[in-house]
Amino acid sequence: MSVSKNWASADSDQAEPTIRVAVLDDLPRVQELDAEVFKDLAYPRFALRQLLDLHAPGWAVAERESELVGYSLIAPDFNRETAWLLALGVREDCRGQRIGWDLLKHSLDSLKSVDVKQVTLTVAPDNETAITLYKKAGFVMLGLQQDYYGPGEDRLLMQLHLGRHD
Ligand SMILES: CC(C)(COP(=O)(O)OP(=O)(O)OC[C@H]1O[C@@H](n2cnc3c(N)ncnc32)[C@H](O)[C@@H]1OP(=O)(O)O)[C@@H](O)C(=O)NCCC(=O)NCCS
Repeated sequence: MSVSKNWASADSDQAEPTIRVAVLDDLPRVQELDAEVFKDLAYPRFALRQLLDLHAPGWAVAERESELVGYSLIAPDFNRETAWLLALGVREDCRGQRIGWDLLKHSLDSLKSVDVKQVTLTVAPDNETAITLYKKAGFVMLGLQQDYYGPGEDRLLMQLHLGRHD
């Protein structure tokens, strides 16, 4: 699939954020934003640290004027068949500026050096914004898994085929 940047800045007064691979120093701010975005489903600090140690090249952050405004994490699974998009979040006041799109693209690009066939993710069934973004990037719906994150936390599974082995 191709995910390309084909848009103009939504707000020309604001500097375009830098999207880059995360480093250890970013972790406190990633944790803060993750907690802000995902509330009780946020990752604990120790999990973020270990995810960074395991999957550093798949971690992307968006930084604007030294402020962290978004992050994403993609991680290949053990047998290298599938990578999972484990996190994608943009600070509320910075949404709608294509930052989520750029982060997703950056994380997908990180898979170029990894021989996986598909990318899978979970998304809340009522999260229309994220579902629209993922469909636009080529993800298709696999189905609903009830209680995926515990009672009442159903999730849709979506998948993107990278088409490298067809
Ligand atoms: C989902 C999220 C990451 C999107 O980030 P964003 O920077 O606002 O998204 P973008 O500006 O890059 O938008 C990319 C595309 O997503 C879709 N989209 C974005 N905002 C949308 C909205 N409010 N309504 C519908 N579609 C929307 C559009 O298709 C958009 O492309 P377009 O602008 O060309 O139409 C952001 O809303 C967020 O952090 N949400 C809370 C956390 C979350 O739900 N994460 C995903 C969990 S699976």
